Amino acid sequence: MTGYDIHETISFLRERVTRAPHAILVLGSGLGGLADEIEDAVRIPFEKIPGFPRRTQELAGHAGALVAGRWNGVEVATMQGRFHLYEGWRPQDVALPIRALAALGAEVMLLTNAAGGVRPGMTPGDLMIIADHINLMGTNPLIGAVVPGEQRFPDMSDPYDAGFRRIAEEVALELRIPVSQGVYAGLLGPSYETPAEIRMLARLGADAVGMSTVPEVIVARALGIRCFGISCITNLAAGLGGTHLSHDEVMEVGARVRDRLAALVRGVLPRIAGSNLPSEA
Ligand code: HPA
Repeated sequence: MTGYDIHETISFLRERVTRAPHAILVLGSGLGGLADEIEDAVRIPFEKIPGFPRRTQELAGHAGALVAGRWNGVEVATMQGRFHLYEGWRPQDVALPIRALAALGAEVMLLTNAAGGVRPGMTPGDLMIIADHINLMGTNPLIGAVVPGEQRFPDMSDPYDAGFRRIAEEVALELRIPVSQGVYAGLLGPSYETPAEIRMLARLGADAVGMSTVPEVIVARALGIRCFGISCITNLAAGLGGTHLSHDEVMEVGARVRDRLAALVRGVLPRIAGSNLPSEA
C-alpha cells in the first residue's frame, strides 16, 4: 500500500503545470541552479505538493522544489533536489514524483549525480555518462502493489538509453568536454564505503559509486520513460585516493565542474528530447 492517493498529486500538478512536461530533469550535485534558466517557470516547493514526502531537514545543496517550464525549447519538469533513500524515505516515496510526472506526459528523464570514482584512472572532476547500473541499495521502488500502467517485472536491459548516450558522446565531442561511459553502483548510504567495499565494487564491474539515481531510473523504466544520466566524479572512492572522504569535498568539486556539466546538459537535452531514435542496445 502506498498510503496516499497519487490521483491527488496528479490533479494538483495538472492544475498548476498547464503545459505537459516532455522531460523530467533530476538535478543533483549542486546543478539545481540550472532551474533558474527555465522560462515561464512554475516553481512549487516539494512540501506543497500532496503526496510528496515531507522534508524534515534541509541538506546543504538540495533546494527541494519542482520547477516546470520551457528550457532550451523543451517543456521540462525539474526536480530541484531529490529524495534519497538514506534520508529515510520509503522506496515508494522516491517513486512518487516520477510516477506523477509520467502521468503528466513525461517521456524522457535526464539525471545528474555526484559519485565516487572506482575505475582506475578516474580523477575528481571527470564526467561519466552512465551506461548501466548495479542496484546495491537492498530495496526497489516498485515494491508493493503493482501500479496501473506498470509491469510487475519490467525489463531492465536498456536502463540508460543507448541512443541518448550516443547523442551525448557527439555533443561532448562538439563542446570539447571529455566524457567516458561507465557503470554506476547505487548504494544505500549515507556512510561512504569502506576500502574493502570499493574493492568489491570494482570486481563487480562498477566504475563509479553513489547513493541516488537507481530508484528513479527503475521507476522510469517501469513506465517506459527513456533515461539519460551523468555522474560527476567528485572524489576517488574510499581507499583509492589516500585521503578521507568528506561531503564538503564532494560539494566543492561539484561546484568546480558545474559549468561543464551544465553545458553538457544544455547541449544534450534538446537533442534527446527531440530524438525519435529507436532505443537499441
Ligand atoms: N561514495 C558514495 N557516494 C558518493 C561518493 C562516494 O565516494 N562521492 C559522491 N557521492
